[in-house]
Amino acid sequence: MRIIIDTDPAMGTLGGDPEDCFAIMLALNSPEVTVDGITVVQGNVPAEKGYANARHLLKLLDREDVPLRRGCLRPMNAKRTTQIAWLERRDRSKQITDMVEPIGEDADAVSFLIETVLASPGEITLVTIGPLTNVATAMQRSPDFARSLSGIIMMGGTAECAGNISPAAEFNYWQDPDAADIVFRSGADLTMIGLDVCHQTHLYPEEVQDCARGGTELGRFVVEATAPWFEIMSGGVGSGSLHLYDDLAMAVAIDSSLVTLEESFVEIEIGHGPAQGMSISHHKPFQRVIFDHPETNAKVALDVEAEVFAELFRKRVLGFIGNER
Ligand code: RIB
Ligand code: CA
Repeated sequence: MRIIIDTDPAMGTLGGDPEDCFAIMLALNSPEVTVDGITVVQGNVPAEKGYANARHLLKLLDREDVPLRRGCLRPMNAKRTTQIAWLERRDRSKQITDMVEPIGEDADAVSFLIETVLASPGEITLVTIGPLTNVATAMQRSPDFARSLSGIIMMGGTAECAGNISPAAEFNYWQDPDAADIVFRSGADLTMIGLDVCHQTHLYPEEVQDCARGGTELGRFVVEATAPWFEIMSGGVGSGSLHLYDDLAMAVAIDSSLVTLEESFVEIEIGHGPAQGMSISHHKPFQRVIFDHPETNAKVALDVEAEVFAELFRKRVLGFIGNER
């Protein structure tokens, strides 16, 4: 499967959710997928920091051959003031990777998405593990983009459980509700990997420390970059683990049997109230009758083979970090 990863990588910005970078490592260490490119979007951190983090990771992995592009810097709708305030706060976080300004086409992820997908109609699957700003902008700019995709596997939303950034919404859809709405209305083949299954995945700090004992530069970076997030996760009622949201979405691209999918009609709350960004999934047939949605627009994940996924992650990510040459 040929994929483009659309991501908001925070491993390198202390206090951001570092997990996107594990998903990038998983993809690059899986023969089942070919990574045609990585596009960075605003989200966990401003895209300026995300681009620096992705550039640093690819250098550590000796994979600077992978095309990397920076994309949209802010949500589509300038009136999403809470989301913009989120980015401004994250912009003040300590950065442990060198900031680097993309030059020329490296600063234009949307054109890269459009050109790459239209050049190989029906062959490229997007794996989106951040807000959908880049993807929705590409859909608005090119009427052929959505129908030229093989599909989109998204980490995002909730089918039946509560949100994680607000009681109603999952972060990726909350951070740009208007973009999520455009994608769900696009007609593209959509697979939604939401919190219902992602919250059954866990990574504990000891596992990261163990895999980094080999003392590689990558291991040292991962330990330093993940420590603040584990701190945050151990506060409150946290279990001390971080969830492998993006890795599960990436793992579905590798082996779709890891999750149980149900056809659904999903709509996004695009108001500006407390439920903004909420995904409303009508995956029970009676719901589609009552709310008059005869058609479906996505497959949503309702269950996961959590231990099979954990083994895949241990082998292809933790094992890689530990043995990386
Ligand atoms: O809600 C989880 C999502 O938000 C993940 O993609 C995580 O990286 C953050 O972007
Ligand atoms: Ca992410």
